[in-house]
Amino acid sequence: MKDEAVKEKIWYSEAKECKFELKEYGQYYVTIFEKNSSETSIQKTPAIYYYGRGQYCNFFKIEEMEMTNNCNLNCHNCGTPTTGYKKGFIDDSTVMSTLSWTRKGQTLNYHRVGEPLLHPKLCTYIQWGVDAGVKPVISTNGVLLTEEMLIRLYNAGLRHLVITLHTKKSLDSFLMCCKWFADNNIEVANFSKRHLKEYDENGNMMFFQGKVLAFSQEEEQGKYVRNNLDSIPSEFRELLQMTPVHTWAGNVEGTKRNLSSDDVINHQKNCYFIKQHVINVRWDGTIVGCCFDFENENELGNIREYTSLNNSLDKYRLCKQCDANWAIKE
Ligand SMILES: C[S@@+](CC[C@H](N)C(=O)[O-])C[C@H]1O[C@@H](n2cnc3c(N)ncnc32)[C@H](O)[C@@H]1O
Ligand code: SF4
Ligand code: SF4
Repeated sequence: MKDEAVKEKIWYSEAKECKFELKEYGQYYVTIFEKNSSETSIQKTPAIYYYGRGQYCNFFKIEEMEMTNNCNLNCHNCGTPTTGYKKGFIDDSTVMSTLSWTRKGQTLNYHRVGEPLLHPKLCTYIQWGVDAGVKPVISTNGVLLTEEMLIRLYNAGLRHLVITLHTKKSLDSFLMCCKWFADNNIEVANFSKRHLKEYDENGNMMFFQGKVLAFSQEEEQGKYVRNNLDSIPSEFRELLQMTPVHTWAGNVEGTKRNLSSDDVINHQKNCYFIKQHVINVRWDGTIVGCCFDFENENELGNIREYTSLNNSLDKYRLCKQCDANWAIKE
């Protein structure tokens, strides 16, 4: 392999075999899949080959890098206010370690549990991500999103922004952003269109959304926004998205349940995180199996020991409480 022409790897898929070509001197990705949908075990993970080191390791996709699990709101649709996990903020070396394992061109969520705009170095980390070749994504409650902050984030290279419309302040921030993009002739598309081919090549497109959690009309959480959607100027309404709610696998207070073992298997079989080897990095560098995991029940390892992550199914203990609507298929 050392002497072979080095070409570019193509995107990884669930196919049994994935063709690859390698381009640059450095880290090689060698991706081999074994898929057997009748079994519930995790498909064999692909491997990374380190040029010159002759060493393989499991291969995962890091989708989320948690800035902090602190928050300035207290939404009762969320486990952040009640989590018992230690609170803190990600540091430079954890960001660096995480970025070093990302793939060029991938999106990377800078939110998970908590409010990312509370992190004083968020803009610096966005810039680092852009420099490392990823597309940073932020979901925020909008409380700290001033026009000055929006400009700083945009100038750092942020092109994927979601504001969850929890409160009046969130809605005001959403409208401020809509106006700023329009005033500055920035082309904007709904965040949900980011995967569409026609938007692929446009590096300057701003993907943006006001996310409305689809609670029932009586529910207090987000009520102000749901009652005032008509006040949003019509040209900005296409940037809204109604999103179904879940309980974060029972991490919302009072929602814990225990699935039957058949249901657990069904969830795991259909779970996007498990099937695609998607993982999350927490603020302290620990790695968990999915974004529902507030308490590190599915802890797989640490970003500083990335090459020895263990994603065996028995590590996924939280699945017995899972209510992800997208992980259920009869
Ligand atoms: C935990 S929040 C953290 C980011 C930020 N604080 C926010 O609220 O946008 C991460 C994502 O989960 C979404 N979310 C929060 N509670 C939810 C629920 N019960 N069901 C579905 N999505 C939810 C938010 O809209 C946000 O995009
Ligand atoms: S949904 Fe977001 S804003 Fe609300 S408590 Fe959770 S992390 Fe905070
Ligand atoms: S808790 Fe649900 S979303 Fe998380 S890994 Fe298990 S099945 Fe997937």
